[in-house]
Amino acid sequence: MKVLVTGGAGFIGSNFIRYVLSRHPDWEITNLDKLTYAGNLDSLRDVDSCPRYLFVKGDIANRKVVDKVLKQGFDVIVNFAAESHVDRSIIDSSPFIKTNVQGTQVLLEGARQHGVKLFLHISTDEVYGSLGTEGKFTEESPLLPNSPYAASKAAADCLCRAYYRTYGLPVIITRCSNNYGPFQFPEKLIPLVITNALEDKSIPIYGNGLNVRDWIYVADHCQALDLIIQQGKPGEIYNIGGNNNTTNLELVKYILNIMGKPRSLITFVSDRPGHDRRYALDTTKIRQQLHWKLTTSFEEGLRRTIQWYLENESWWRKIKSGEYIKYYHRMYSQT
Ligand code: NAD
Ligand code: DAU
Repeated sequence: MKVLVTGGAGFIGSNFIRYVLSRHPDWEITNLDKLTYAGNLDSLRDVDSCPRYLFVKGDIANRKVVDKVLKQGFDVIVNFAAESHVDRSIIDSSPFIKTNVQGTQVLLEGARQHGVKLFLHISTDEVYGSLGTEGKFTEESPLLPNSPYAASKAAADCLCRAYYRTYGLPVIITRCSNNYGPFQFPEKLIPLVITNALEDKSIPIYGNGLNVRDWIYVADHCQALDLIIQQGKPGEIYNIGGNNNTTNLELVKYILNIMGKPRSLITFVSDRPGHDRRYALDTTKIRQQLHWKLTTSFEEGLRRTIQWYLENESWWRKIKSGEYIKYYHRMYSQT
């Protein structure tokens, strides 16, 4: 099977490529990635020389690039490519509209013209907005995005739906909760906490730290996507979640505890504007219809993740120098 992965040099995409190459000896993967600040070929060094893997540098919002790549003929497109960080979308939403909305439209159109058999679009639980103290989002919950990032992802989901309804393009949308694991860019909470703690730097917590997220180990997400490619039904949406809800404050204390670092590193900073209070996903559909099961406990996943950052200092230290420093100081200048 020939699979085009977009955004494969990012966190989840690189984990997904490694996951499927090792499990499907008959799959050939082409990775189309623009290599933005979040794209990192160091995350794919171990698969670089695999004869079933090819990297192409390019922008999913560029029709000519997409057309040229799709001429090679693909059975499946897995669209991870996106601007993915909420805080950056608050600073400047333009690249989010360009990549997440326009880029998805260009890919959908390309998939339609080139007869792709499955378009798997990787969306997020953030499209549903924020919950109060009760309840969970199902696939039928309304789209009520609150950040420019979430709004751009919701717009892309609507385009995916429209291409299925209007043209019969076989599209599946997945909406996953917060991922963590190896190769995650250290602007996101968990790798930020781990790497700052390793450097004995302060750990910024937005607002009162009582916002709740549902954390899933990235390999469990990849496994769910693999299953959906093989057994998912076109036109459907599948929630994917870790069934592991914690406040940010509890999470940070837990990580510091495992790492043997003091709680005094915690620093409360101004809240994220429009900060969603709580996400929680009802995953009955994927569990009942596709028999998907979580395999990694939160404790095990966190221990593996901390160990990975300990053993791969050169990966994150390279990122945490240069341009990253400017972004970091701009974000946390209020501390
Ligand atoms: P990431 O920011 O780590 O990686 C994004 C990748 O996309 C990078 O390699 C980047 O270079 C590439 N990219 C960006 N713009 C591009 C463009 N115009 N053309 C081609 N490539 C481009 O993101 P991630 O955390 O791996 O997330 C991947 C996908 O999963 C995103 O669509 C995101 O919305 C979704 N998602 C993420 C999470 C999470 O917790 N990280 C949870 C649910 C859904
Ligand atoms: O829910 C899925 C989403 O999870 C994905 O769609 C996004 O691509 C991904 O970035 C992630 O979004 P979040 O905004 O939830 O993740 P982030 O790691 O940025 O923040 C997690 C929580 O921690 C959130 O409530 C904000 C808070 N936070 C974050 C950072 C970076 C802090 O308190 N301090 C921080 O320094």
